[in-house]
Amino acid sequence: MTTTPAAIAVVILAAGQGTRMKSELPKVLHPVAGRPMVLWAVEAARQVTTDDQIAVVVGYGADQVRAVLPDSVRTVTQAAQLGTGHAVKLALDSGFGSEGVVIVIPGDTPQLRGPVLAELAARQAGGSTGVVVLTARLDDPTGFGRVVRGLDGAVEKIVEQTDAGEEERAIREVNTSVYAFDAATLRAVIEALDTDNAQQEMYLTDTVGLIRVHRGDRGVGAMVGDADDSLGVNTPAQLAGVDAVMRSRINQDLMDAGVRILDPARTYIDASVEVAAGATIYPDVYLEGSTTIAEGAVVGPSVFAVDSHIGAGARVWYAVVREATVGPRTEVGPFASLRAGTVTEEGSKIGTFVETKNTHLGEGSKIPHLSYMGDAQIGRNSNIGAGSITCNYDGFEKHETVIGDDVRVGSDTMLVAPVELGDGAWTGAGSVISKDVTPGALAVERSDQREIPDYAAKRRAKANDS
Ligand code: UD1
Ligand code: CA
Repeated sequence: MTTTPAAIAVVILAAGQGTRMKSELPKVLHPVAGRPMVLWAVEAARQVTTDDQIAVVVGYGADQVRAVLPDSVRTVTQAAQLGTGHAVKLALDSGFGSEGVVIVIPGDTPQLRGPVLAELAARQAGGSTGVVVLTARLDDPTGFGRVVRGLDGAVEKIVEQTDAGEEERAIREVNTSVYAFDAATLRAVIEALDTDNAQQEMYLTDTVGLIRVHRGDRGVGAMVGDADDSLGVNTPAQLAGVDAVMRSRINQDLMDAGVRILDPARTYIDASVEVAAGATIYPDVYLEGSTTIAEGAVVGPSVFAVDSHIGAGARVWYAVVREATVGPRTEVGPFASLRAGTVTEEGSKIGTFVETKNTHLGEGSKIPHLSYMGDAQIGRNSNIGAGSITCNYDGFEKHETVIGDDVRVGSDTMLVAPVELGDGAWTGAGSVISKDVTPGALAVERSDQREIPDYAAKRRAKANDS
């Protein structure tokens, strides 16, 4: 346990389709906390070795899988998926893992942590074993390979569910598919694998029994791990379970760093997101992609933000925010939709039932109620009255609306773009503004109000006559 091995190579098995997922997408590309599963395995491997010592075995959807992997890790192609033993053999045949410790991990086990791999490798290197297997004890071991131990407690072999007899199926200690092999021992036994089993595949699990036969009762070590750390994803339901585990870890780390999360079970933050200490997250918040939340921001309840930046001290609630930048101490919501290219400056406000797209809102400016602002440049300290809309699309092209500083746009103004309102300009409520407005002027566009006296009584009389 104390020796640090000289060389650690990590083989990540990622060639299978994952038929139990019932999905065209290769299983290892299904996202967990926003990150393709296989990249979690790569991140764990990176905690024990360098990228040139990481090989990913790809096969089903190989091009798709390669596309998400960093260029610095190796890939080995397994054209036909003839089993986990075959996959590892191909990696070794490519000249990989020639000395020291060879760790094998499945690409569908995102919860596996670097420190667990480090301990497994240290136990392998520090002992006289040919392999140390990471196992877990489960209440329901269905579907997993069972770890068969002898009377002395030493591991004898691993039996797959499909090949297990009744007695073996009752065993609750299972193989997690995570191993630390002595490189030379693995090379020797892998040549002896056959396909004489229920699935007619080369099982990597059979190396364990072979090592035991060659090396005797001290040949195989086992490390019993935490099930939460190492149980893989085979089905959509397991994916949901693992996603919940990873999200709770992300939330825990954020809380440890000083983020206030009111209800972690109802907070969905991708691994790629940054949240500063001192931010507060209310329930039902989804933060995805490259989103960042600055210090003192209060986000939620009910916010979906993707690839967006929420500034210091901003307040965003009941809102959808996509590719947008919310300035410091800005208020957004409730019930607002900020689309791509929305930028709000310090102290501005986007209020209730407001949609914005490709719009810059200057410092202190407000769009408080029921508006659509698209392709608009709005200066400082301007106010957009309730129900105002930029008519930015003429059915063929988009046009820009420019609104200066200190502008008062009256309620229900239609701004027919391209159009410009000068600094300090006003528009009358209900106007359709299709010409530029001079700075400081009031533009009104509506017919004069007229009255028909006693209209109600006349109308009633007419109705009674007929
Ligand atoms: C495997 C183990 C089983 C263990 C379980 C833990 C074997 C034979 N069985 O079973 O003992 O309890 O994992 O989750 O190893 N893969 C390849 N090439 C192949 C076949 C699989 O790269 O030819 C990859 C898959 O993409 C996957 C991993 O290996 O990432 C495991 O394959 P999977 O089919 O999920 O194995 P299990 O049946 O779960
Ligand atoms: Ca599996």
